[in-house]
Amino acid sequence: MPRTRTVYRCRECGASSPSWVGRCPSCHEWNTLIEEHEAAAPVDRGRSIAAPIPIGRVDGATHHPTTTGLAELDRVLGGGLVAGSATLLGGEPGIGKSTLALQVAAESARRGTRVLYASAEESNAQVHSRAERLGAIHDDLWLSTEADVPALLGQVDELGPALVVVDSIQTVRAPELSSAAGSVGQVRECASTLVRMAKDANVAVVLVGHVTKDGALAGPRVLEHLVDTVLTFEGDRHHALRLLRASKHRFGSTEELGVFEMTGTGLLPVGDPSKLFLDDRRADVPGSVVVPVLDGYRPLLLEVQALTTASSADHPRRLAHGLDAGRLAMVLAVLAERVRFDVGRRDVHALAVGGVRIAEPAADLAVALAIASSLCDRALPADLVAMGEIGLGGELRQAQQTPRRLAEAARLGFAQAVVPRSAPEAPPGIRVLRASTVGEAVALASLPLP
Ligand code: TYD
Ligand code: MG
Repeated sequence: MPRTRTVYRCRECGASSPSWVGRCPSCHEWNTLIEEHEAAAPVDRGRSIAAPIPIGRVDGATHHPTTTGLAELDRVLGGGLVAGSATLLGGEPGIGKSTLALQVAAESARRGTRVLYASAEESNAQVHSRAERLGAIHDDLWLSTEADVPALLGQVDELGPALVVVDSIQTVRAPELSSAAGSVGQVRECASTLVRMAKDANVAVVLVGHVTKDGALAGPRVLEHLVDTVLTFEGDRHHALRLLRASKHRFGSTEELGVFEMTGTGLLPVGDPSKLFLDDRRADVPGSVVVPVLDGYRPLLLEVQALTTASSADHPRRLAHGLDAGRLAMVLAVLAERVRFDVGRRDVHALAVGGVRIAEPAADLAVALAIASSLCDRALPADLVAMGEIGLGGELRQAQQTPRRLAEAARLGFAQAVVPRSAPEAPPGIRVLRASTVGEAVALASLPLP
């Protein structure tokens, strides 16, 4: 029997403590420590397989990504998966992680890479039926339902795949730990074993990890420092759009955004997301404004909508969907105090269309113009976009990388943009209308001032 010791581990950040405390000493969350029994690892000195080497004698970086066959994923990974690397694919249940992982597995197999898809979460029959739906049946795509990590390593040795997908890291187990699959200790132990296997066998490993909002399962945050790359897959389950980002990437940039659409036959790349977002727009309706936002390097055109209605309540309702509620309140306060719009007795709904979240302050001006447009019941010019951060004095500040945003707007046929006065020259195809204040911007957008 291995010797075990009891530790109390935080399910949020994974920090451990020798005794139970109510608040995690590391991340300061309350009531997140849970008891775990870990095998005490014997300290082994003397053998070294990684002797020190002078830095000048180290071979230069030789990370050669192999294409996954999915262009949007390759874009985020900077070319593809690297042999010997570990990638964590995290996201909420139902978002499409298994679908993406299976598509990658099948595409890789189709390109001559042997793949082992280890799904302890679903039966082979379930994976097979999903694979049929995805057109992902291939002779060199091997399935396993093994949940025991050492046994899985044995299968990898026998089969010799170049890509191993483990779906999910919360359902595999290290038998030497007594805690249940999915506990922080298990997740961490299994992941570190699989990461070591990736390095030792020079195999690309993809670990699928569930993130839940309430933190009931060990969050992949515990794993972030173990793996080379952390991909997060997100979107709104009620919308088909899925966004893939790298929040950590040892082999490249974390600034790229991958966009997919979930369809009846799996995830399809969305090469032109701006067009997808604007396809159903009705530009002639008051309260609609298009804003070029920047997600990492990738500019996206998104529609912001506002609707204001007379309120019968003592405290009018202000609802933000996909937008920051605090910034909406700020924009309303500025419209009331600096431009004298009468918003005090009106309910306001503000919305980022398409189930996306806009976090950028650069969207402030679009929100303000959408509200102004709804208040005066007049649509903005159909070919106009707006961007800029609003200050409490009603002044407008420039958004970073304005020319890239404007170029994207021009590409989709927008001819004019309301921007802060300090904004740089516009790229060809679009005219800039410069405003110092929100009030000036309202006038430039052809809306009447109060
Ligand atoms: P799944 O990949 O199982 O999500 P996760 O592994 O992140 O929990 O996908 C979940 C949803 O996707 C499920 O509700 C069904 C839907 N789906 C499609 O719409 N089209 C498809 O081709 C597939 C395979 C799934
Ligand atoms: Mg799944």
